[in-house]
Amino acid sequence: MTHPLEELREAALAEISAAPNEQTLEAARVRYLGRNGSISAWSERMKSLSKEEKPIVGKLLNQARSAVTAALEETQEKLRAAKEARALAELDISLPGTPNEIGSLHPLTQMLDRGIAIFRRMGFALAEGPDVEDEWHCFDALNTPPDHPARAEQDTFYLPDNRLLRTHTSTVQIRTMEAAPPPIRVIAPGAAFRRDEVDATHSAQFHQIEGLYVDKRVSVADLKGTLEFFLRELFGPETGVRFRPHYFPFTEPSFEIDVKSKTLKSGEAWIEVCGCGMVHPAVFEEVNRARGDAAYDPEKWTGFAFGLGMDRLAMILFDIPDIRLFAQNDLRFLRQFA
Ligand code: PHE
Repeated sequence: MTHPLEELREAALAEISAAPNEQTLEAARVRYLGRNGSISAWSERMKSLSKEEKPIVGKLLNQARSAVTAALEETQEKLRAAKEARALAELDISLPGTPNEIGSLHPLTQMLDRGIAIFRRMGFALAEGPDVEDEWHCFDALNTPPDHPARAEQDTFYLPDNRLLRTHTSTVQIRTMEAAPPPIRVIAPGAAFRRDEVDATHSAQFHQIEGLYVDKRVSVADLKGTLEFFLRELFGPETGVRFRPHYFPFTEPSFEIDVKSKTLKSGEAWIEVCGCGMVHPAVFEEVNRARGDAAYDPEKWTGFAFGLGMDRLAMILFDIPDIRLFAQNDLRFLRQFA
């Protein structure tokens, strides 16, 4: 004859192994092993049993408990594995993933970064100034008199209060010298603005790297060496670099620089990329006047300055046919530089 506890155990084991899901399994656990469960009830009942019965029932009770506990664990594990297998079966790992659109730097930013890196290797520090300027920083301090054509309204964007959008980054030469005595060795990358007729090579906004180097006995040879090194780092050691005499009010002598390189699409053509020259003594004098001292004594200090056209350099380097592409935000264009 089987003991009721054994029957209870067998019923529990059958129910547990047939449990279709975790909820049914948990219900079975509560029913048999929970505080008010039917197996647990036998512990209570033990107290009222006779001395002879106690060890027999005690043993059966322990067996029932451990068998049911083991069965619960086993079934639990089986259900968990089955659930995982189902989830995996529903997952199509051959589906394409959700693409993550990663941005990249604008080609002009890349060009400026390259340029800055080369000048930093030569010891140039970074300087900056505002896009919205006054006439003094943009013209007067740069030895450009009121009747100069650059100051006319058809060339320059004026604001109602007579301030203007700087027409070149040379303004930062003045701001740098106002702020600190010589020696100076800075570059100032940034935007410049002119009321040009917009076409494939002219844009109302363009970008320059301005350079200013003031020290004792700085000569045209230093200017030439610095800019030749820069351009050959950028375009390769075989690059032709040509200095043409030119005129700027704030430098004397002044030059324009052309480059040509067989490795470039432009091939045999000379392309103008830079204006430069030796800082005009009148610029030093005006800075002294503004500073109220004689820090920039033109008898003691000399310097060179340059303004590199960065849009032009980027167009040459990356073979870009139209300057307007830089500002149109066309992803088909921008993605080519990602
Ligand atoms: N500011 C001049 C321009 O924009 C370039 C230049 C800079 C020339 C410094 C000489 C010295 O054309």
